[in-house]
Amino acid sequence: MDRRGFVGTGMAAGLVGVGGAASSLSALLGHAPGWGPGKTLPDGSVKLASNENALGLCESARQAVIDAIPHANRYPSDYTPELLQELAKYMGVKEENLILGAGSTEILQMTVQAFQGPKVPLVIADPTFEDVPRYQHPLSFNLIRVPLTHTYAHDIARMREHAEGSRRPSIVYFCNPNNPTGTITESRGIDAWIADAPETTTFLMDEAYFDYVDNASYWSALKWIDTHPNVVVVRTFSKIFAMAGLRVGYAVAHPDTIVRLTEYVAKNSPNVLATAAGIASLRDSDHTARSLEVNEVSKKIVHDTCDELGLECLPSDANFTMHRINGDLDTYIQRMADAGVRVGRPFPPMLEWSRLSYGLPEEQNRWAETLKGFRAKGWV
Ligand SMILES: Cc1ncc(COP(=O)(O)O)c(C=O)c1O
Repeated sequence: MDRRGFVGTGMAAGLVGVGGAASSLSALLGHAPGWGPGKTLPDGSVKLASNENALGLCESARQAVIDAIPHANRYPSDYTPELLQELAKYMGVKEENLILGAGSTEILQMTVQAFQGPKVPLVIADPTFEDVPRYQHPLSFNLIRVPLTHTYAHDIARMREHAEGSRRPSIVYFCNPNNPTGTITESRGIDAWIADAPETTTFLMDEAYFDYVDNASYWSALKWIDTHPNVVVVRTFSKIFAMAGLRVGYAVAHPDTIVRLTEYVAKNSPNVLATAAGIASLRDSDHTARSLEVNEVSKKIVHDTCDELGLECLPSDANFTMHRINGDLDTYIQRMADAGVRVGRPFPPMLEWSRLSYGLPEEQNRWAETLKGFRAKGWV
């Protein structure tokens, strides 16, 4: 098959009118024929628990998945080159700077495995995304958790002491913006460390929420990849492209580092349908704009509600935030679930805070009304 033909551009072009002409939020939310947001859960609950993108796949990606079904009997290797080509263009890098995985989860796993060694310090923030420490086995890292600063940023000075103090090779995980707090660590400080670090310090830069950041003190670590093989930038199609269920993630790094990571990748991921959706999503900038717009509306609902109830809410540069609750967190999570609203899991040590994803505005309003009902009962 002609590589360029795997995912056509006709559908994406046809969509321009939907996003481009949409002037109101209701238009954004899917009153175009055949297009609608992602579904609520089968039991009717709204899910504001996993930092997904409730808008769902863009129309061109949905169509691409359908069109790719006849190719699902084949291994993906004939189709991945088109995704790599499109992604290289999108990221402004060369294909040799990229490696794909089944979600960025696989990329995190590969990177940790590629750079591991017995007793290697693995330095992470506390709290942060919990995935990376899971991959320390069987070699058993020296896992070091460094509490976030009072502004919920990574504590660069302390992380550095731990990473470089032992004079061994080390891995440093920066989740920026950080999950679960939604806060950023200023890039200037990170840059200063990378510029000065020994090449045996590996920087695993998780930028899953990069697209949501609107902050002049934040920029990608991508600028380092040509000169620093010890920097691995990790991105995902799960968030801004709403593809969490399809599983596509990638690393951007120096070609030598990509070769090293290749030894740890599970062959043939991502699959054919995910590849098709990924190509279409990269070509649909309208969907990205819609996602950001919806995110902002829901974010405002959350922050206004917290202000009204006097509950502290962290500033967020992502598609979720943390807000305080008064009372026991497990009880709060269960009560919300009983009311049909699934909120985030506990993130120790922040057990007086609930992590809440931004969904569609009507979903966020349901959360807001439920929370106000809890306040009336004296529960929060
Ligand atoms: C910071 C961060 N990194 C990586 C992931 C994994 O995402 P995926 O495997 O869907 O790309 C998540 C998921 O929520 C996340 O929050």
